[in-house]
Amino acid sequence: MNMNYCTISRYHKYKKTGVCVLLQVITSINDIKQSIKTQKENHSTIGFVPTMGALHEGHLGLIRQAKKENDTVVVSIFVNPLQFGKNEDFKHYPRTFDNDCKLLSQVGVDIVFKPEASEMYPDGFCTSIIPEHLENKLCGKSRPGHFRGVAVVVLKLLNLIKPDIAYFGQKDFQQTVVIKRLVSDLHVDVTIKVLPTIRDQNGLALSSRNAYLSETEKNDALCLYKALTKAQAMVNAGIMNTEEIVREMEKIITHCKSATIDYISVVDPETFESETKVRSGDVALLAVRIGKTRLIDNIILTFLMVLAWFSLC
Ligand code: PAJ
Repeated sequence: MNMNYCTISRYHKYKKTGVCVLLQVITSINDIKQSIKTQKENHSTIGFVPTMGALHEGHLGLIRQAKKENDTVVVSIFVNPLQFGKNEDFKHYPRTFDNDCKLLSQVGVDIVFKPEASEMYPDGFCTSIIPEHLENKLCGKSRPGHFRGVAVVVLKLLNLIKPDIAYFGQKDFQQTVVIKRLVSDLHVDVTIKVLPTIRDQNGLALSSRNAYLSETEKNDALCLYKALTKAQAMVNAGIMNTEEIVREMEKIITHCKSATIDYISVVDPETFESETKVRSGDVALLAVRIGKTRLIDNIILTFLMVLAWFSLC
């Protein structure tokens, strides 16, 4: 098996035994199949974190959880061309593989799978997965074909890695819903875990695309979180009219000069249908351009116990 082990010493990590092991870098589909077969023969449980690289604490949080819950952790790094539109940032998407490997070995990842697009999508590739009802709303509406691209690549990766548990971030809420639907609809034998959004100290959701932002834009981008916390504050104050909530969120975003709203909505968490009155568990979502950078964020709206109690009376 032609496995490409990282040879640079900083990629070494130590298992509890004190034995030095290496972060395995696997780039071919045959090799990952072989490696997974060996893990299965050893009865190792596999935790899987699919990513597009340019790793940050948001990704590392998922990986740390995977480490806690599985014998072996596999991370994929693949900037999936199928989920980018024609005029989107596929070409410019940050690619920082060396640094990613350093981080992965620091957190004790066993295998990083970094396939080539030519092997993932060879000539003749033509199969599509259509997340009907979900793909034309919110991000799917602004980014036609995006969720088909996500669905196909995630299913391919799940088929290759065969994980017991796969980890995703709430940061990409709609993506988690599409993936859970896919796993349930197609009987994929995996548990999907969704972990909360990791933010910087000011509330900005960590994202690989934050690398595009200037310092001023980073500051402007805080309006997303401000708008979301306003939505929760309004719910806490008993305001359940979603039009009113969205209007207040819009005010916060439009106050920021570099911001352009793509959408702001309060939706049912399973269907993405807009709500007129907030129900506990609904999600406030927004996509906003800060300068040229499109950012997304969301919050799951919860009712304070006391309000829930009053509404029962
Ligand atoms: P990527 O944007 O690299 O994200 C990989 C995973 O990390 C996703 O599950 C995402 O939701 C999660 N993540 C990103 N930022 C986060 C944050 N601040 N807090 C918590 N989790 C965060 O999402 C993708 O890649 C791709 O669409 C992929 C699923 C890999 C398919 O190509």
